Amino acid sequence: MLAIGTPLSPSATKVMLLGAGELGKEVLIALQRLGVETIAVDRYENAPGQQVAHHAHTIVMSDPAALRALILAQRPHIVVPEIEAIATSVLQDLEAEGLVRVVPTARAARLTMDREGIRRLAAETLGLPTSPYAFADSLAQLQAAIEGREGKKAIGYPCIIKPVMSSSGKGQSKLESSANLQKAWEYAMAGGRVGTGRVIVEGFIDFDYEITLLTVRAADANGQVHTHFCEPIGHIQREGDYVESWQPHPMAPAALAASQHIAKTVTDNLAGQGLFGVELFVKGDKVWFSEVSPRPHDTGMVTMISQWQNEFELHVRAILGLPVDTRLKSPGASAVIYGAVEAKGIVFEGVAEALGVPNTELRLFGKPESFTKRRMGVALAHDAHVEIARKNAKAAAAKVKPRVLG
Ligand SMILES: Nc1ncnc2c1ncn2[C@@H]1O[C@H](COP(=O)(O)OP(=O)(O)OP(=O)(O)O)[C@@H](O)[C@H]1O
Ligand SMILES: [Mg+2]
Repeated sequence: MLAIGTPLSPSATKVMLLGAGELGKEVLIALQRLGVETIAVDRYENAPGQQVAHHAHTIVMSDPAALRALILAQRPHIVVPEIEAIATSVLQDLEAEGLVRVVPTARAARLTMDREGIRRLAAETLGLPTSPYAFADSLAQLQAAIEGREGKKAIGYPCIIKPVMSSSGKGQSKLESSANLQKAWEYAMAGGRVGTGRVIVEGFIDFDYEITLLTVRAADANGQVHTHFCEPIGHIQREGDYVESWQPHPMAPAALAASQHIAKTVTDNLAGQGLFGVELFVKGDKVWFSEVSPRPHDTGMVTMISQWQNEFELHVRAILGLPVDTRLKSPGASAVIYGAVEAKGIVFEGVAEALGVPNTELRLFGKPESFTKRRMGVALAHDAHVEIARKNAKAAAAKVKPRVLG
């Protein structure tokens, strides 16, 4: 276990966050509270996390030379990837050279960087149930995968097409028939990050509901790593982006057991210490693995109001080798506040009205620029009844009105 030093002194414990959006900002706040010296890195100036860290740097994190140079110049003890689009080969090299510790491991960051690494690990190496899937590098390959050719089993319709490198539903479309296949391919090409031009096509799972199972790998006093589970988080996604989440989501005992088994299997393999967001689809007692973030999850923002230790604090505690407590404090819910306008330096009206809704809190992330569908804040609510918490979180979110200044 690590002793914690004094920030801005030679004894400082230094942690670098690669990605300083709303999730990184909360991790940084949790680190600050424990007296850790923090370095926030993002691709644009004044990112939310850069506003609360000791040091801020703006670089292209997918550029291996730039990333390596920054880490070697700053020499953090621990590097915490907070986004996927990072030159993970650099992290692997620096970890192998013993120069930094990467959370949870450099290998986990690499495998979860795109949809292919983690899907092949889960389905092909670990044998976990997933949707049927195939990868394609061209429209012709995509069509062949969906419609079946050369003796390969067809994915069929409906199916979902996603760029291998993307998040928050960018470039993702659901197809009911071949009618819009070319459109879906072009949409994926436009929406993919770091133009790899590769897509995954997945058979559509007609689930009853989907959950995020926050799973924590933390060491005990003897340095032995144990797996801890938070209560399941239910959520609703619109166009592949989360709009609402709540905790706990009631589950049949068999479905919960299957979910925990899947989450333990995949996080044991990714290894290291930290919190993971395991995304699962559930129908009756059957559970499918969808994907995993080796870091706090956007739907887990609800834990800022529903748990004694929220997902960011749990991540930080696990990273630093401190004890964790994943218990629920109260049922709760979160609802996303979108930018609604396209402008820099917007103002939020209706904040007092929003906070007038009983048992609510707000987080406004402080993003310098708003886009219509950019996540700019989140409303949180707690209540003994999760349905009332959901209603109040949505009511509070709806009262916040982003406006262009002037
Ligand atoms: N095979 C599938 N069958 C049914 N629904 C799916 C399937 N794949 C994705 N979805 C739906 O689309 C949502 C987003 O998909 P996914 O999590 O793969 O994308 P993402 O861009 O990584 O999203 P996020 O970054 O918000 O987690 C899922 O939460 C689910 O609601
Ligand atoms: Mg997802």
